[in-house]
Amino acid sequence: MTATVITGISVLVTNTPGGDGPLGEVTDAALVMEDGRVAWTGPSASAPAADEHVDAAGRCVLPGFVDSHSHVVFAGDRSREFAARMAGRPYAAGGIRTTVAATREASDEVLRATAARLVAEMHAQGSTTVEIKSGYGLTPADEARTLRIAGELTPETTFLGAHVVPPEFDGDARGYVDLVCGEMLRACAPYARWADVFCERGAFDGEQTREILTAAAAAGLTPRVHAGQLGEGPGVRIGVELGAASVDHCTFLTDADVAALAGSETVATLLPTIEFSTRQPYPDARRLIDAGVTVALATDCNPGSGYSSSMALAIALGVREMRMTTEEAVRAATLGGARALRRDDVGHLAPGARADVLMLDAPNPIYLAYRPGVPQVSAVWKDGHRLP
Ligand code: NIG
Ligand code: FE
Repeated sequence: MTATVITGISVLVTNTPGGDGPLGEVTDAALVMEDGRVAWTGPSASAPAADEHVDAAGRCVLPGFVDSHSHVVFAGDRSREFAARMAGRPYAAGGIRTTVAATREASDEVLRATAARLVAEMHAQGSTTVEIKSGYGLTPADEARTLRIAGELTPETTFLGAHVVPPEFDGDARGYVDLVCGEMLRACAPYARWADVFCERGAFDGEQTREILTAAAAAGLTPRVHAGQLGEGPGVRIGVELGAASVDHCTFLTDADVAALAGSETVATLLPTIEFSTRQPYPDARRLIDAGVTVALATDCNPGSGYSSSMALAIALGVREMRMTTEEAVRAATLGGARALRRDDVGHLAPGARADVLMLDAPNPIYLAYRPGVPQVSAVWKDGHRLP
């Protein structure tokens, strides 16, 4: 493969201790990519020659965003549910069933086309690593095909058979948990890296969450949990106890939840575009960061609670509404996401890291929060290949 050198970078965010400040910034920098990896970073003046030369002309460069939480394999439309919410109706977990009905009806081709379009949309906005959950099939066959399609688009696939109890199990949650832990898990485990449970009022309780994640761990899937989205509950502590890579949402947390996260390797993944689209209070990132918790920002792109695929919007909301500094928000959207997916090859730009590189039409990464809603992506490389 050819080597590419980018010179004239105003600010290079490396997320490594080699650079300055919390983002490991290098000014007047250059970066060399070769064989899909970062080969060299340093001052632009001493950049080595390469086959291909790109002049950043004073733009900034950062690691591609790591969007560690999405639900982009689905069918159907819930824009009217959003409109009804904005007219005053609250968000409830039950809306998920609308998407389940449409997804079960859809062909593989339709599901694949929608998911591929959304992943392309994410890439174009600078997200070079994307996680995708199942959860709109809720039968062994529909969950497995969701994960097969997700796996065509990313290695970060998550089995979320425990999203809600589907209508055919009304009044028989026990029967559904048995299905999830048995036949459904067997059908899905070959296609999933992670397992997740929506632990919330209207979805699954603490005991069910523990049972499902324990069965999934025995099948080789590492736990993650949706917890604290609609109210306080046991999900955060169960996630920490089971060694979850991440507990996601964390909008409603007790002091004990914060203390449990702080003493653990579990990342708190915050999804502010959901609060934006459900008109809920935002999670308090400051409280978590000050307690020593590792925080990630992700989009949770899904047709119900929030249909944004923009990591830049998540960063802007993190800064404006969640008391994050601009550096903390950018770090959470890159290195934080990598930690939430237990990946050490993405989220930073040290030599040897994957050449997932985002160039912004801006002189520094503050602009992500400073110019909300403005398209600022200049170029994206994934594995060293420039995306169209
Ligand atoms: O992360 N919390 C559960 N799952 C999604 C919502 C899915 C939906 O409303 O369709 C979420 O917000
Ligand atoms: Fe989610």
